[in-house]
Amino acid sequence: MLKNKSVLVTGSEGQLGKTLQKRCLNNHGFDWIFLPKEELDIIETKEIQAAFKKYNPKFCINCAAFTDVLKSEKQPSLAFKINVEGVKNLTQICNDNETILIHISTDYIFDGSKKRPYVENDKANPLNAYGMTKYLGEKHVLGNANFGYIVRTSWLYSKNFGYNFYRNILNEASTGNEIKVVKDQYGTPTNTEKVADFIVKIIISLPEKGVYHCAGEEIMSWYDFANKIVKENNYPNKIIPIKSNSGVVKRPSYSPLKNTEI
Ligand SMILES: NC(=O)c1ccc[n+]([C@@H]2O[C@H](COP(=O)([O-])OP(=O)(O)OC[C@H]3O[C@@H](n4cnc5c(N)ncnc54)[C@H](OP(=O)(O)O)[C@@H]3O)[C@@H](O)[C@H]2O)c1
Repeated sequence: MLKNKSVLVTGSEGQLGKTLQKRCLNNHGFDWIFLPKEELDIIETKEIQAAFKKYNPKFCINCAAFTDVLKSEKQPSLAFKINVEGVKNLTQICNDNETILIHISTDYIFDGSKKRPYVENDKANPLNAYGMTKYLGEKHVLGNANFGYIVRTSWLYSKNFGYNFYRNILNEASTGNEIKVVKDQYGTPTNTEKVADFIVKIIISLPEKGVYHCAGEEIMSWYDFANKIVKENNYPNKIIPIKSNSGVVKRPSYSPLKNTEI
């Protein structure tokens, strides 16, 4: 059994989980345990209990989530099972083992009507099923975890891992075609490396428990972001601005997060 310096990461094959692996393995004075869904499914209480028994983690970083916004709208019960029930399971088992829970949440808990960057205690009002499940998950952690942090981030992307806007635009750019991108939604694109480093800062400095915002510094639309991506990768593609289609799934028109200093 590992000593009390271990950090267990769930959902370790997602873009944030993989970034944490790259930046943290054998690092920062902690023993890192990275568990993919196949080894630890947060819906399965017994799997969590077995992992906690084996590793005795001091911290649990929950990178596991159902993150597909469109699929969440079509299959809300599945999103609920993972983003709410799974988070309840983790919270309970963290409490039972005196483990500090760091749970990741999203700008999509907000409705976008504020028109200024959101701060930690702004009122949530999710517009879609994904946002609602993430809101319920974080609310449970805040109300029930003996020691828990919520790290809210927004428009998360990794240049190296996973399925995200940055890599999608690069793929499309490589075809040489024009790319149509929504111009009426604004946010703060956030590199997973920034969030990984922020999480490490939390486990090292142990600030007060509560909600923390970690997002990119620049506010932009998806259209602006696409232009930035093609430019920084020297692609010549023309980006065509389009209006969002709120008939499919509603998204906040303005959800930048104001960063929390720690
Ligand atoms: N992506 C964004 O734009 C964004 C923005 C703001 C906040 N966030 C939040 O940031 C966190 C990390 O997101 P991400 O972008 O890294 O997501 P991601 O790339 O979709 O990774 C999520 C990981 O969780 C795994 N997973 C799904 N269900 C699971 C379960 N029941 N038990 C264990 N693992 C499970 C997934 O495995 P499978 O792929 O095999 O299902 C995947 O490896 C999430 O909490 C997300 O809500 C994301």
